[in-house]
Amino acid sequence: MKIVNAEFLKSAFVEGDWPKDSRPEVAFLGRSNVGKSSLINSLLSVRGLARTSSTPGRTQSLNFFLVNDEFKFVDFPGYGYARVPGKIKSSWGEMATKYLAKRRQLVLSIHIVDSRHEPTKQDLQLHDWLEESDKPRLVVATKSDKLSNNELRKNLKHIARVLNDDSILAYSAKSGGGRIELWRAIKSAIEQGD
Ligand code: GTP
Ligand code: MG
Repeated sequence: MKIVNAEFLKSAFVEGDWPKDSRPEVAFLGRSNVGKSSLINSLLSVRGLARTSSTPGRTQSLNFFLVNDEFKFVDFPGYGYARVPGKIKSSWGEMATKYLAKRRQLVLSIHIVDSRHEPTKQDLQLHDWLEESDKPRLVVATKSDKLSNNELRKNLKHIARVLNDDSILAYSAKSGGGRIELWRAIKSAIEQGD
């Protein structure tokens, strides 16, 4: 995919803020600090477009990015960070389920997990929601650069078993490993969703 233009569109805290245009959307969801924003920046080759942070729980709104004037990326807040206030924590599920169930522009949900870690309870919950929403979804195991090839292979197998999903893609925002395969999946979802 040739990125001609990528720009921040808006942050949405409530449904009324969601962009009104009909261009397709790809959503990036996952645990706090798992590397959602880094993955978006790496896919778009723009450093700092989506705000990354070593402080978990930084993104609290849905952040929309417009790519090539053709489609949008949606950076979700992370879930599962203990120090996020209770009120925000409970609104996460509400906002996510609403978006996943209602958003007609959604053509692909990318569920990002950490290739080093066991999927959490909330990962399993999100996985169920995505299954229920009955729309294309893809699990991406990121930070693969932190593992040896052997460990990565072993962990991908394990994550696939736990999430009951056999098509897991390994990714590294650091090395760009997996970028071509992930773009292929995104492109195909956008074309089919049109
Ligand atoms: P929240 O928005 O707070 O939920 O976090 P996030 O999921 O957007 O994570 P973010 O992209 O901010 O990354 C969190 C930390 O992980 C940062 O310090 C990143 O530099 C680091 N990180 C993200 N992806 C990778 C990766 O593929 N490899 C390595 N080595 N580090 C990564
Ligand atoms: Mg983020």
